[in-house]
Formats: sequence, C-alpha cells, structure tokens
Amino acid sequence: MVIRVRRSSQVPSSEITPESTYLDRRKFLGATAGIGAATFLGRGVAAEETPTHGDEEPNSWEEITTHNNFYEFGLGKEDPSRNAHTLVTEPWTVRVDGLCAKPGDYALEDFIRPSTLEDRVYRLRCVEGWSMVIPWRGFPLADVIRRAEVEPRARYVAFETLWDPDQMPERGWKPRIGWPYREGLRLDEALHPLSFLVVGLYGKTLPNQNGAPLRLVVPWKYGFKSIKSIVRMSFVRDQPRTTWSSDSPREYGFYSNVNPEVRHPRWSQATEKRIDGGRLFGYRRIDTQFLNGYADEVAHLYEGMDLRKHF
Ligand code: MTE
Repeated sequence: MVIRVRRSSQVPSSEITPESTYLDRRKFLGATAGIGAATFLGRGVAAEETPTHGDEEPNSWEEITTHNNFYEFGLGKEDPSRNAHTLVTEPWTVRVDGLCAKPGDYALEDFIRPSTLEDRVYRLRCVEGWSMVIPWRGFPLADVIRRAEVEPRARYVAFETLWDPDQMPERGWKPRIGWPYREGLRLDEALHPLSFLVVGLYGKTLPNQNGAPLRLVVPWKYGFKSIKSIVRMSFVRDQPRTTWSSDSPREYGFYSNVNPEVRHPRWSQATEKRIDGGRLFGYRRIDTQFLNGYADEVAHLYEGMDLRKHF
C-alpha cells in the first residue's frame, strides 16, 4: 500500500512540495487517510509511523542530486550534476514498440496522464558498493505494460536511454559500451508492483542528473538496471542486450539482483557504504541485504533458479 497523490495533470507547478515540508506532509497524509504501509522500505510501515523506520532516513536532496552515475555526462560522481543541464527534457517522446497491440510514439504527458502518481521511498544499492534511500515519485511500470496490450509471446522488456552527443558530453566511452545505454527486465519482473517509472524526487520534478524526465527504478536490483532518461520501451521475445552485461559479462549479469553472497569478480558485495553526509567519512558501512531487503516481495520470481549462475 502506498500513498496516492493526485494525477500529474492536476498538480500545478506552483504547488510543488518544498523538501522541508515533504516528510511532514507524508506523515500527515498517512495519519489522516489511515492508509497502510506508506513505503516499501522493509516489511511495510504503519500509516501512523513516520515514513521511514529504523536508521533508514531518506538521503538529503543534495546527496541524491550530487552523487550520481550517469555516464553520458561524465564518469565522476559529481559530473552529472555539473553537466546534465544540457539535457533537453521538453518536449520528450517515448516510443513503445515490439510485440504489443498498441505501439506508438507517446508525448511524455500522454504517457504519464493515465496513471496515478505515487510517492515511494526505496533503497538504491549501486553495484559499486554505495547506497542511498530515495523518495521517488512515479507510477507502476505495469500500468504501461497493460496499456500496451502485450502479446503472449513477449517475454522481456528492453529499455533505451536517449543518446544525443550534442547534449551529452561523454564521448570517450562510445567505442567501448556503444551508446545508447540499454537495459532490460523479464516481463514478470517488469509487471511486479515494485517496478516503478519515476518522474519526480522529493515531490519535485526529477532533476536531469537523476534521469529526467522519465527513468526506471527496480529497487531489488543493482542500480545500473534503473535506466535513466528513457526514450524507448520494446516488448521482445528474447533476452535483450544490455549495456553492462554485454560490456563485461563476467562482471555484470542480466539479472543483477542484489545479493551479498554473489561477489563481484573484483570486490565483495557483503556490505555497502550508506551515503550519510552527517558522518565523518560521509558514509556508514552496513550489511547488504538479499534482494536489497525486498526478498519477501520478489524472491518468488526466482524460485528454482540458481542465482549464482543467473547473477
Ligand atoms: N542510466 C543511464 N542512462 N546511464 C547511466 O550511466 N547509471 C546507472 C543507473 N542508470 C546510469 C543509468 C547506475 S550505475 C546507477 S547506480 C543509477 O543509475 C544511479 O542513479 P542516481 O544517480 O539517480 O542515484
């Protein structure tokens, strides 16, 4: 259960929630509406509680928007916040194609309008070993899949990021990874209610460095599956080629489920650095959880699969 907010078309820009009042408002909404779990952190949080629990405070706006991976804008963590202002997000078109009855090129507004936007707080665990807790705003990926009327032979969804060298200064890696950035999910993973298409952060419009105007967030997988600035979604029969699993298949699998027991060839995945600017070193070291703490919700998707082989 999550807090429902109004449809994007009904929210005037003058009403965008300032970050300072965001948590208070969430508390208010939860308490008055009497709805159940307000977030997907852990096992669900009672409405009367604050939207976080334990030590899992959401990271600050500054942390979430200045420590990023968006290689199209540079390889350093601060490069995307410095460089992504050149990304033009309006107008934006999303192509839906492949094995479905309703393919098309959708203006972003039309793509979002039929869905109800929700606020969800998710952990994000990067394969590099850092993590954050992020309050996203978006809608279930399943909405889009249902609207597209996918054919039964489709088994995967493939995603593509915009690639425009005039807007994106990172050209150095082109020969190696071959832009555009690509990702994919098995159809049942994509239909899972936790799979989320994101258009906002802390109740505000998504900043460019976080993948504006539309990105995916799949919280039980390493962060690189959460592809940014999406321009295309295709329904396909075979497992699609994805950027990191084709670049370094020994290091990055198609599934890339967070798993402290499957080490990366160059480093352990048993623990992570939770970014925490209030600390001396700017982070806390914590244990990494199986499926990033979402095992109760998603482990059934992998029943009978050897997650060491299908990493
Ligand atoms: N999407 C694109 N197009 N390009 C990227 O370089 N980096 C991925 C993912 N999506 C990436 C991307 C990685 S490695 C991570 S950890 C997350 O975005 C980071 O999201 P954030 O910067 O919003 O925290």
